[in-house]
Amino acid sequence: MTNVAILGFGVVGGGVADLLTKNSAEVKKLGGDEINIKYILDLRDFPDSPFADKVVHDYNVIVDDPEVDCIIEVMGGSHPAYEYTMAALKAGKSVITSNKEVVANFGDEFLAAAEASGVSYRFEAAVGGGIPVISPMINCIGQNKITEVRGILNGTTNYILTKMFSFGAGFEESLKDAQERGYAERNPDADILGTDACRKIAILSSLATGRLVPTENIHTEGITGIRKADVKAAEKLGMSIKLLGRSIIADDGTYIMVAPFMIGKDSPLSNVSGVYNAIEVLGEPIGSVMFYGPGAGAGATASAVVGDLMQVMCSGRACAQPTMIKSLDGVCDFAEFESRQYIALSGADQNSITASFGEVQFIPADEEIAFITKKMREGDVEAKLESLGAEIKSRIRLA
Ligand code: HSE
Repeated sequence: MTNVAILGFGVVGGGVADLLTKNSAEVKKLGGDEINIKYILDLRDFPDSPFADKVVHDYNVIVDDPEVDCIIEVMGGSHPAYEYTMAALKAGKSVITSNKEVVANFGDEFLAAAEASGVSYRFEAAVGGGIPVISPMINCIGQNKITEVRGILNGTTNYILTKMFSFGAGFEESLKDAQERGYAERNPDADILGTDACRKIAILSSLATGRLVPTENIHTEGITGIRKADVKAAEKLGMSIKLLGRSIIADDGTYIMVAPFMIGKDSPLSNVSGVYNAIEVLGEPIGSVMFYGPGAGAGATASAVVGDLMQVMCSGRACAQPTMIKSLDGVCDFAEFESRQYIALSGADQNSITASFGEVQFIPADEEIAFITKKMREGDVEAKLESLGAEIKSRIRLA
């Protein structure tokens, strides 16, 4: 019998309890043992839940119980998730989480603590919800020389952008629709400002490079500035706009970022619609592989959490653990990043733009002037825009 405790009985915690109960036969077959949910930690009581008798309010009851083998942390947020995780690992209990914030902030410390205690720390559900991507990156393709990891890592923003492209809706209207459907939180900032995707690309990048880049050092833009005019411009170019997390691993270092990108309709990421997520990993010799599926939701996220639990039960510390070191070593200055850029301005004309940017591709636009630059350094684009002195309506890179 393997005893587990679930920290947090919200949407994901409930999904994990349901999956462990409903699919107990499959879990036993794969994990090689029966699972007992011994405790559920939450501030609230759930008198009508079939798990009501498992609920405790004091974490010490769990961490001090030597019968608890594994802790499933699905509370979200950095604190007290950090303290609870550390205490569990130090007590010799494996920890599984869906909490991208705590992994992005402290994954290096947790992996070191797990190593020291001879237990596992796993976080498949922290990126891409139900999509198996962390484990394949560690176990199946880690032997490649990874050159880029890029993905649609946030379902809320992908839904909003899909709505803007499919129905010609504006950003605010699309956000409201996402909120009404339960795809966006009442406070949607972490999604629409790119924070959530930033945490996820930090985690994915660390698997490819071994370095966990602090999120504050990752260039992060959200989608709040995307206008109907930008959607029309992208359509004229045969492109779509996607919020991408990218970690580009070149010989001279890694560029890591979250930003909206215009991407060609022939790119597999361009066809990922609605709340779905997708992660493309490019490497040598494998070429390109893509992981696609539901990036959120109780069932999908629970599937990834329980998948981790099966791994811990089968293999214990024999599971391959990634190495993460928090470091900016090898991280390139974003000002050096080169791309073609779509720029929309008012208060400039074609002559002044050509004089400043050289040859560009102008795109017909109403009441503004829009163009695509040649491939340029970020820093050079900034300097030229500043010297032009025009009002910047939009600026979106091409992937
Ligand atoms: N708000 C997140 C998203 C949930 O929209 O992708 C999963 O991390």
